Amino acid sequence: MAGQLAGKIVVVTGAARGLGREFARRLAEEGAAVVAADVRDCAECVADIAAAGGRAIGVALDVTDMGSCASMAKAALDAFGRIDVLVNNAALYGGLKTGRFDTLDEQEWNRVMAVNVTGVWNCCKAVVPAMRERRAGSIVNMASVVALYGMPYTLHYTVSKGAVIALTRALARELGGDWIRVNAIAPTAVMTEGTKEFFGERLDKAASGIAKAQALRRNLAPGDISGTVVYLASDASALVTGQTIAVDGGTVFL
Ligand SMILES: NC(=O)c1ccc[n+]([C@@H]2O[C@H](COP(=O)([O-])OP(=O)(O)OC[C@H]3O[C@@H](n4cnc5c(N)ncnc54)[C@H](O)[C@@H]3O)[C@@H](O)[C@H]2O)c1
Repeated sequence: MAGQLAGKIVVVTGAARGLGREFARRLAEEGAAVVAADVRDCAECVADIAAAGGRAIGVALDVTDMGSCASMAKAALDAFGRIDVLVNNAALYGGLKTGRFDTLDEQEWNRVMAVNVTGVWNCCKAVVPAMRERRAGSIVNMASVVALYGMPYTLHYTVSKGAVIALTRALARELGGDWIRVNAIAPTAVMTEGTKEFFGERLDKAASGIAKAQALRRNLAPGDISGTVVYLASDASALVTGQTIAVDGGTVFL
């Protein structure tokens, strides 16, 4: 397929649903071959891409397990021969318990850190050697505006996304010598299944409050984020690294 990413090989973690599934679809539309990886089944994501004339494979992945991340990278290399882009999108978000910082469940706290922070580190460790060999690559990490705003009552999630921003900055400096770029995207609430699960019965009230805090006052849909993923994956951002781009309708200004 022709497009801004023609010929690129892209891994998207957490591609079974929500933003990851939309990113996989959009990146394939721009010409990339996509490795859709998730603990959930990615068959529907892969079938949609194939039906639209794109190339994709689905891979079972648990980002908390380094062996699973290594198998994912191997499957990508076996199928397509190289990896140009890694989108670290998998995370625990929908369904997390919210509450005062001192009432959060310790097991859930540890699990959030394992998936949202260690999972990103693991996927980078699995994929960077193949990028380093070719002295080229782009890593796109999903952070969140919660870390920039300091969202209360969900301290584990907020802290995990702050760590993703810090990881992005430090890794950009470590990998610049290998011409591997590392950037992050910080969206405000996007209307995904995860967001519906996160807010539960409070969804309508929360969505309206979030839109009112934006300079551009409407809630975001998954398609509002994918253009920035395409930009960071593409050569249009060849000298952009270590950055966090807020895609939030103008909620915070960096
Ligand atoms: N939706 C939003 O409003 C919003 C806002 C800011 C940031 N984000 C971030 O964007 C990303 C996607 O959000 P979403 O709303 O699509 O969330 P989601 O919960 O719908 O999707 C997350 C995906 O990650 C997968 N996943 C979870 N644990 C995994 C593991 N251990 N290994 C592999 N895959 C795993 C899930 O199966 C799921 O498909 C997340 O990183 C989230 O934190 C979302």
